[in-house]
Amino acid sequence: MIGVIGATGSTGRALVAALKEKGADFRCLVRDPAAAAEKLGGDVELVQADLADAASLEAGLAGCDKVFLLSGHSPVMVEQQMNAVNAAKAVGANHIVKLSGGSVIIKEDSPAMIGRGHWQIEEAIKTCGLDWTILRPGFFMQNFLNMAEMIKGMGKVMMPLPADVGLGMIDVRDTADAAATVLTSDGHAGQTYELSGPNVSPAEAISAIGAVIGKEIAFVQVPMEGAIGAMKERGMPDWLVDHQSTLMGIAAEGNMGSFGNDLIETLSGHAPRTPADFAKDHAAAFQG
Ligand SMILES: NC(=O)c1ccc[n+]([C@@H]2O[C@H](COP(=O)([O-])OP(=O)(O)OC[C@H]3O[C@@H](n4cnc5c(N)ncnc54)[C@H](OP(=O)(O)O)[C@@H]3O)[C@@H](O)[C@H]2O)c1
Repeated sequence: MIGVIGATGSTGRALVAALKEKGADFRCLVRDPAAAAEKLGGDVELVQADLADAASLEAGLAGCDKVFLLSGHSPVMVEQQMNAVNAAKAVGANHIVKLSGGSVIIKEDSPAMIGRGHWQIEEAIKTCGLDWTILRPGFFMQNFLNMAEMIKGMGKVMMPLPADVGLGMIDVRDTADAAATVLTSDGHAGQTYELSGPNVSPAEAISAIGAVIGKEIAFVQVPMEGAIGAMKERGMPDWLVDHQSTLMGIAAEGNMGSFGNDLIETLSGHAPRTPADFAKDHAAAFQG
């Protein structure tokens, strides 16, 4: 039995679809089972659990031998994910698969708080006595969904990045397909998998979206101070503004490029989805 934590999010929903496709035996630990059933379908086993509540995790993971661990950006990510690691040990699971961040930020002294957090959790998982596999994806194509209103309303995308900087992008469905393979086959213990397709620039990604919706979308590089001001205006908490601007700074310098391997294809059994695939499958979100 696989215990899935983070099933209702962007990557998690795609993982549930991939595990269903494989006919895997899995259970999702979710904060709100009714809301989760809406998102995941009535045919998925759901159990109420919260990463902030260690006892609920132990109850939810009872009987699981493998655990998939993901949670969104949060200032309490380390503490909460460590609750899951401890619960996995307590219930006698034997393998944890963690969705981490991109390699460039996973360091003890990373300038990105979330990167330092992922590093701490990864290190704890590697020494906890269970088998482990770490998935480190690149820049999510799905991040462009956060810009859908800008695209629909203004016909442009504003980011503090050069239009032509190379980013190692990945569609979360590819991460999910790789994760489903790792969770349902042997030979992945002790592996850190860096997952991204080839380099794609922001301008190329925007152009793929424009082509699908039949509209020219301008890409505007804004100064970092402007981007920080806009995030604050939208009411983002300081820690998240700090994290996003640090990441954009790293990306702007060309340090978030493709990992340059064929792991998506090897693990998922198909070629990495392209920005054109992403745009076609999400056209409705960008139209209007
Ligand atoms: N964006 C990128 O470009 C990028 C690149 C590389 C790596 N990453 C990493 O990817 C991860 C985020 O993945 P994502 O975007 O797929 O996640 P997401 O859409 O933000 O989903 C987060 C999931 O975690 C669950 N969750 C949050 N707090 C919880 C709690 N206290 N108890 C139980 N469940 C909880 C959420 O459940 P609810 O439905 O209850 O909220 C949701 O299912 C982060 O670790 C990030 O560092 C992101």
